[in-house]
Amino acid sequence: MLIEIDNLHKSFLDQKVLAGVNLFFEEGKTYVIIGRSGCGKSVLLRHIIGLLKPDLGTVRIRGVDIFSGSKEQLDNIRASIGMVFQQSALFDSLTVGENVGFLLYEKSGLSRRDIILRVQEALTMVGLNGIENKYPEELSGGMKKRVAIARALCGRPSILIYDEPTTGIDPIGADMINSLMKSLHDRLKITSLVVTHDLVSAFKIADRIIMLFNGRVIYQGAPQEVVNTDNPYVRQFIEGKKEGPINQLEV
Ligand SMILES: Nc1ncnc2c1ncn2[C@@H]1O[C@H](COP(=O)(O)OP(=O)(O)O)[C@@H](O)[C@H]1O
Ligand SMILES: [Mg+2]
Repeated sequence: MLIEIDNLHKSFLDQKVLAGVNLFFEEGKTYVIIGRSGCGKSVLLRHIIGLLKPDLGTVRIRGVDIFSGSKEQLDNIRASIGMVFQQSALFDSLTVGENVGFLLYEKSGLSRRDIILRVQEALTMVGLNGIENKYPEELSGGMKKRVAIARALCGRPSILIYDEPTTGIDPIGADMINSLMKSLHDRLKITSLVVTHDLVSAFKIADRIIMLFNGRVIYQGAPQEVVNTDNPYVRQFIEGKKEGPINQLEV
């Protein structure tokens, strides 16, 4: 199993966010995690990349417990994961090329020339070759997102994690991101974990859809099973109804 999450609990002060999440991710598949804003999707992702420590429970990646493995094991695991953050998180004062190669310039020890080639390769993969010298402010939201994906690809990861990759992007730009995620997955055999509340995107790209509610996994299934399920939480969410078993936690 590529990633095993067992009984994950996390609270912030007295707010319980994760209350026993159990999940398995197999190599080579695309998983989409859905759920209301604030239900803990990003918190879950942050545990998988080791940015947050659980109160209880474990995350194992390729059999290594990421909170108790050796430094060398953890460095290897981290290097195999690419993360696309929700706000793209590009540095405005750096060029696209410097942004995409950022981690390689910081810690890979590769020569400048090799990094420039890697940056070129990554930008080509997202359909944006030749824009190395532009600055983020010159790009549309969809292009910024593709640059953020190129940055995640630069380390040649086997797992790509996307936090809300289509949120805030117009429908056409969003569809380009969906196609890109699909083609990267198909061409590079990457395992993808995608958090989103964009259901159009979820149904387009997912092998499995996982729904979080009240700190736990309340449902998971293939897209066709999700469409046909009579699970009332899933129905309320995918039909976008304000009435139903999901409490109104926020406006
Ligand atoms: N570092 C943190 N400190 C305190 N509260 C946090 C922190 N990170 C997330 N939270 C809270 O945890 C809850 C879940 O957040 P998040 O995972 O970001 O939700 P979403 O499902 O929208 O991604 C929210 O109520 C958020 O305010
Ligand atoms: Mg989030």
